[in-house]
Amino acid sequence: MTMNESARLPVVVVGAGAMGGEWIRMLARSPHAEPVGVVDLNVDLARETVASAGLDVAVGASLVGVAEASGARAVVNVTVPQAHRVVNEQALRAGLPVLCEKPLAPTVAEALRQVALADLTGGLLMVSQSRRYFNHLAAFRQAVAALGPLGAVHAQFFHEDHEPGFREQMAHPLLVDMSVHHFDMLRYLSDDEPVSVRCDSWNPSWSWFAGHAAATATFELASGARFIYSGSRATPGLQTSWNADWHVYAEKGAAHWDGDFVVETDAEGVEFEVPDRSESIEGSLEEFVGALRTGTTPQNEVRANVLTLAMIEGAIRSSDRGGEKVVIADLLEESLAQAIADEQRDDVAGLLRSWTSAADGIATPAWGSIPAPIASGGAH
Ligand SMILES: NC(=O)c1ccc[n+]([C@@H]2O[C@H](COP(=O)([O-])OP(=O)(O)OC[C@H]3O[C@@H](n4cnc5c(N)ncnc54)[C@H](O)[C@@H]3O)[C@@H](O)[C@H]2O)c1
Repeated sequence: MTMNESARLPVVVVGAGAMGGEWIRMLARSPHAEPVGVVDLNVDLARETVASAGLDVAVGASLVGVAEASGARAVVNVTVPQAHRVVNEQALRAGLPVLCEKPLAPTVAEALRQVALADLTGGLLMVSQSRRYFNHLAAFRQAVAALGPLGAVHAQFFHEDHEPGFREQMAHPLLVDMSVHHFDMLRYLSDDEPVSVRCDSWNPSWSWFAGHAAATATFELASGARFIYSGSRATPGLQTSWNADWHVYAEKGAAHWDGDFVVETDAEGVEFEVPDRSESIEGSLEEFVGALRTGTTPQNEVRANVLTLAMIEGAIRSSDRGGEKVVIADLLEESLAQAIADEQRDDVAGLLRSWTSAADGIATPAWGSIPAPIASGGAH
């Protein structure tokens, strides 16, 4: 797909709930893209969301119908996680690239089916991991990179979240809905990958969540460093940033980020700069549109996102097994077998069967041939 450099990319937003509204309002003022249609199973809700954003665009329950009627060239998928794969499949099969909200899918098996689908269609499927796009995280990353080999990265997240809806009914509202951000940030921050995890999750007695609102997890990383995570969404007091509170120690010193605007290190000679770039969902939109314009591979192109999901599922599996160590490579291979068993489409199932391993499948050449700046060490 090639695009006119100056034109705003016409997009359909699928999912007009709370976050869909955020996307629609952001897109309405974006220089990079414009909302030309909104889709939701609840068409009245879609109409209300469009009207409250002061827009007059195509609305309906059918993605393909609204995309055709509006001349859309891409899709932003802001549906609930259970619907992500089906909507992404409709879009990619219609030839439309997709920017999909996190988490890409409820399981790694469903994520692998989407990798195969992206292979088959040749379309771009990028996951919007919007918390990568914070300027102070980029600064913290520079400081951490200057500290030498890492000993451990600690992240703590304590929040009191009252968000009725799918979150309060999930089995793992912390790990699946929130820690997905922090686990993805760890991969960005450290340039390291998870090897294994031990986790314990539970629900505090006063929690208003049905599932486990709290967890602790220790990941072993490929470098040998550890990522030690503690979180809770039912913490009525002394809350951290939504981005969590981070502490790193390494060979040459330590660094801390409060998740907002304070980055500090006691290591001598370590310098860092806070860049001035678009943050949060605006940052991820810019990267998506840039990838379509230039053919670069964006961060969290579907293949790269699979390990973030594997961190979540590995943590859940460990917790379900009483804290037993879960090896990420084993989880990936078991997920491939599950993906093959679940997939109904012959073309996708055939491709999944042709992979020698899940690791092979996510290592296939990604959409675009030019690595994004981040892959060569730049911060975004
Ligand atoms: N990046 C962030 O910081 C952030 C913050 C909040 C939510 N999110 C993500 O955004 C997504 C949506 O969250 P939300 O809070 O807006 O949820 P929500 O429940 O408020 O809205 C989801 C909407 O999707 C619609 N929907 C479900 N299945 C559909 C389908 N097959 N086709 C069309 N529409 C469908 C529902 O009718 C609903 O209106 C989730 O993946 C969530 O994790 C991300």
